[in-house]
Amino acid sequence: MSIQVQEPKGTLGILTPGLGAVATTFIAGVLAIRKGAGSPVGSLTQLGNIRLGKRTEGDFRQPLIKDFVPLQDLDAIAFGGWDIFEDNAYDAAVKADVINAQMLDQVKTELSAIKPMKAVFDKQFVKNLDGDWVKKATTKMELAGLLMDDIRNFREQHNCDRLVMVWCGSTEVFTELSATHQSIESFENGLRENSADISPSMIYAYASIKCGVPFANGAPNLACDIPALLELAVLNNVAVAGKDFKTGQTLMKTIVAPGLAARALGIKGWFSTNILGNRDGEVLDDPSSFKTKEVSKLSVLKDILPPDLHPELYKDLYHKVNINYYPPRGDNKESWDNIDLFGWLGYEMQIKINFLCRDSILAAPIVLDLALFLDLAQRCRMSGIQEWLSFYFKSPQTAPGLNPIHDIFKQLMKLENTLRHIMGEDLITHLGLDYYEALAEKTP
Ligand SMILES: NC(=O)c1ccc[n+]([C@@H]2O[C@H](COP(=O)([O-])OP(=O)(O)OC[C@H]3O[C@@H](n4cnc5c(N)ncnc54)[C@H](O)[C@@H]3O)[C@@H](O)[C@H]2O)c1
Repeated sequence: MSIQVQEPKGTLGILTPGLGAVATTFIAGVLAIRKGAGSPVGSLTQLGNIRLGKRTEGDFRQPLIKDFVPLQDLDAIAFGGWDIFEDNAYDAAVKADVINAQMLDQVKTELSAIKPMKAVFDKQFVKNLDGDWVKKATTKMELAGLLMDDIRNFREQHNCDRLVMVWCGSTEVFTELSATHQSIESFENGLRENSADISPSMIYAYASIKCGVPFANGAPNLACDIPALLELAVLNNVAVAGKDFKTGQTLMKTIVAPGLAARALGIKGWFSTNILGNRDGEVLDDPSSFKTKEVSKLSVLKDILPPDLHPELYKDLYHKVNINYYPPRGDNKESWDNIDLFGWLGYEMQIKINFLCRDSILAAPIVLDLALFLDLAQRCRMSGIQEWLSFYFKSPQTAPGLNPIHDIFKQLMKLENTLRHIMGEDLITHLGLDYYEALAEKTP
């Protein structure tokens, strides 16, 4: 039985707190793609196929995902955002130095028209940044109210039928769950009393969910990953997902580790280091922001290489992650991984991975896919945590007590089966015994 899916009529507004490298690469990219000046490489919603039915079906069915599920058309998207700097999206994209001048020039008019709204910002949560394009109010509740006004005004000015918000702001300092985060009531009291436990990303998430706008978190800070906001999301029928876009080094890790685990190879150590020189790197140069990122990056191997389940293979696994701010490289991150592994009878081996990647080029299609899939979830009335979008995150949010899945192949299967489920198609388990049973029946 298929779920009732509302058609994606009219305009979808995509709002990003943070109009930095990732957000401007995403927006400029979509504008360029609309004009035929670029291709949406790396986006599952635009270029991915999905297999349906049986492999014996005459016309082996593998439609494009965007032809299978009703997704928003790229031509009917309006972009908006907030930042602590007043630069419009064109100037911010030039500063980010990800997309070249020739391509940016082709979308200059549209990009220049995107002016950031004043941000909700608190330097206590991002120590290495200073900006003056920020809202002023006496309480955090008033700040949330101002954000809700922005959301409503944007919806009206751009004639949007629906909105989605994707956090593309800087990584905030490491914050532990506290009593303030535990219920809607304690959180709202905290907003009124200016609790130091409430970060700007939580205020954006609160405003978004209050306005019925789905929210995704591209950074590792908590934002919507607190009981109070999850409760509010379910109460208000709003879809949410997080945390931390899975892009360069961690993407590679969750591709390679499942393969090694599948062959029951042992791993003693996984050392990861990288250099990057963009503003994100500058923010992560502060130890308290780095700690948030480190926790997120370290979490992926425990699920794929479980030491408790396989002590003989992984009990000594030493996992180390470094990030080094190195301005000459800008957004073009270079990462190195050294994996110390062992095989039959304990004989030792090594693998070295050197990935010369581009952070925002890998992150931009994730912003697009998350926005389109969250909008789909919302139109299907799927509220609360959308675990099927784990595929896009380093630290997938799950129901309390549920271990996240990090293996990218399992994440993809979950995502595809969710799409099949939404559209009333048979789920694909890859069991495939029926083909051979049918063959045996035919054999005399
Ligand atoms: N690029 C990647 O591969 C990648 C991967 C995973 C996660 N991320 C995360 O995505 C986020 C964006 O990355 P980026 O490379 O675009 O960084 P960036 O520094 O270029 O952009 C972030 C922007 O957010 C703004 N900002 C900070 N606090 C804000 C607030 N409270 N309200 C509004 N704006 C605020 C900053 O001024 C900045 O312009 C970071 O948190 C980063 O850690 C990026």
